[in-house]
Amino acid sequence: MKKIEHIGIAVKDLNVSNKLFSKLLGVSHYKEEEVLSEHVKTSFFKRGPNKIELLEAIDNEGPIAQFLEKKGEGVHHIAFEVDDIVAEIIRLKKEGFTILNETPKKGADNKLVAFVHPKSSNGVLIELCQDVSKEM
Ligand code: CO
Repeated sequence: MKKIEHIGIAVKDLNVSNKLFSKLLGVSHYKEEEVLSEHVKTSFFKRGPNKIELLEAIDNEGPIAQFLEKKGEGVHHIAFEVDDIVAEIIRLKKEGFTILNETPKKGADNKLVAFVHPKSSNGVLIELCQDVSKEM
């Protein structure tokens, strides 16, 4: 685990929240990206070294639609940057954490991602992400 790479926030309406977070942070989002496999549209903000990812469900399936229905808008996950996601998955499994996808998948923002089940991490969904922009 290295630093926190970003914090993910589930929102109902990405356009509305893009405007809200632009006002809050004083900068506009620098990209929007759909991740069809996750049924989400994302936008990213950067302030200093910190990034915020907003996530909107693009249909009624997928984890963000589920989350919004159960909990409403709010913090959805904390993402940590890792150098070697496969090694980190193995390490966390040995430590007793439940990994939601043991095979890393392609996430937004040129990342390979894997998630730790919130039941094994005090109710917080943890994303591991490895930057693969240089390899693509
Ligand atoms: Co994320």
